[in-house]
Amino acid sequence: MRSSIRRRLLLAFLIVAVAVAAVLSVYFLTELESYGLRKIEERLRSEQSVLAAALSAQITASGASGLSDSQAAALANELAMAGRGSASHIRVLDRAGVSVADSTGADIGIGYAETPEVSRALAGEIASAERVLPDGRIGISIAGPITVDGRVVGVVHNSAATFSVTTIVRDYRMQLAVAALAFVLATFVLTELLARWLSAPLRSLAQGAVAFAGGDHSVRVRPSGSGETRAVAEAFNAMADEVQNALLELHEEERRKSRFVSDVSHELRTPLTAIRGAAETLLDGDVPEDDARQFLSTIARESERLARLANDLITLQRIEGATGELPLSQVDLTSIAQHAVEALAPLVEARGVQVEITGKAAPVLGDRDRLQQVFSNLIDNASRVTPEGKKLTIEIADDGDRAVARVLDEGPGIGEKDAARIFDRFYRAQSSRDRGSGGAGLGLAIVAAIVSAHGGTITAAPRPEGGTVFTLRFPTVKQG
Ligand SMILES: Nc1ncnc2c1ncn2[C@@H]1O[C@H](COP(=O)(O)OP(=O)(O)OP(=O)(O)O)[C@@H](O)[C@H]1O
Ligand SMILES: [Mg+2]
Repeated sequence: MRSSIRRRLLLAFLIVAVAVAAVLSVYFLTELESYGLRKIEERLRSEQSVLAAALSAQITASGASGLSDSQAAALANELAMAGRGSASHIRVLDRAGVSVADSTGADIGIGYAETPEVSRALAGEIASAERVLPDGRIGISIAGPITVDGRVVGVVHNSAATFSVTTIVRDYRMQLAVAALAFVLATFVLTELLARWLSAPLRSLAQGAVAFAGGDHSVRVRPSGSGETRAVAEAFNAMADEVQNALLELHEEERRKSRFVSDVSHELRTPLTAIRGAAETLLDGDVPEDDARQFLSTIARESERLARLANDLITLQRIEGATGELPLSQVDLTSIAQHAVEALAPLVEARGVQVEITGKAAPVLGDRDRLQQVFSNLIDNASRVTPEGKKLTIEIADDGDRAVARVLDEGPGIGEKDAARIFDRFYRAQSSRDRGSGGAGLGLAIVAAIVSAHGGTITAAPRPEGGTVFTLRFPTVKQG
């Protein structure tokens, strides 16, 4: 990944850098060339016009119609002297275009009439021409007439050479190569630094991801680098949190399930052992009639307990598995509590406990049968622990937008540890550990599941005056 980022950056940088350098170089070199040409042309033109004017004045003063031979010879001498060390090559031609003086001292007597700029100068114009010389430099020539009384009596022709892009590149190729190398090296170094800087946070991210995939779910990466890599790191951390939580929940769920299975089999084993024991004794024969009846009633009681256990488990499964499919209607908690008390009246009376229901609350959206089951389970538990002759009270009231029902008994109360756990499946407080007096420990688990399916809450707490209070809260239906 890292080398890939580096390679891409390098490629992009090189392309951009080379393109920019090439465009700029071509631009500046061409500018330089045309600037040099302009300057030279200006110089040549001024030299040409000064010399042409001077010669014209000289010829006019001598009254001749052109340079005399002696004048030409003197001029050739002067020009050859002056031309030494000069950058311009100046020629003076007669009216036939033949050179009579030359700043290099050579080339006397050569005809230039065929040269375009000279032929135009002979026609009375100042003309210029550019040509590329064999050495790659650019030569400029200016030819202008020497006029006397409007007649062309000769031509001043001067030329010079200047550097061209080609000659600059050739003359400086060593320096250019070094500069290009330095340029590429600098690009490499810059790219490397940039690639490191950009890829460091990604590398740590990759390490984190690999460690996470390898099973270390506690790894988190430090958000660093650019905004984008920071965002990726934060997203990774959020994802890691979520996965870790999901896994923890999964483990917890797994643990609960396996505990549930072992609890269920434990609960099944006790009545089944009792039934098998009684049945085997009866099968052995020779059992006195009274004992036989005893064993048969054990079998009946224990199988009833098994049936109840199965029913409770199914109920719990249905409520916890249900997703908002309870048949809901507006119900009144007081009347539901009354129904529960009426249904349990024989049992509660047999335990010698009195039940009182007080108060009223706003209607609650709920399932009548399930809510009656809640009260039945709470009354069953409370009446079991309440001593004979004592009272059990159900208070119903409004509390803001909640309907509150309290089930209060005068039993032994409840410890803090038990209060937190009695809603767990199969949990029985130590005081009622003996199975003879209690059930399987599923009643309150069912109650809690029903209450939460109604969007309500339930808590258990000891009462200061003794006994236990179960407090239920349900959201009420908004009136009007
Ligand atoms: N009113 C109460 N006062 C004191 N302890 C209580 C009270 N109600 C319940 N408990 C404790 O909570 C435990 C759990 O109650 P729960 O109703 O879930 O189970 P159970 O009554 O033992 O069995 P089941 O209801 O399945 O027949 C009980 O065993 C008991 O120890
Ligand atoms: Mg119970």
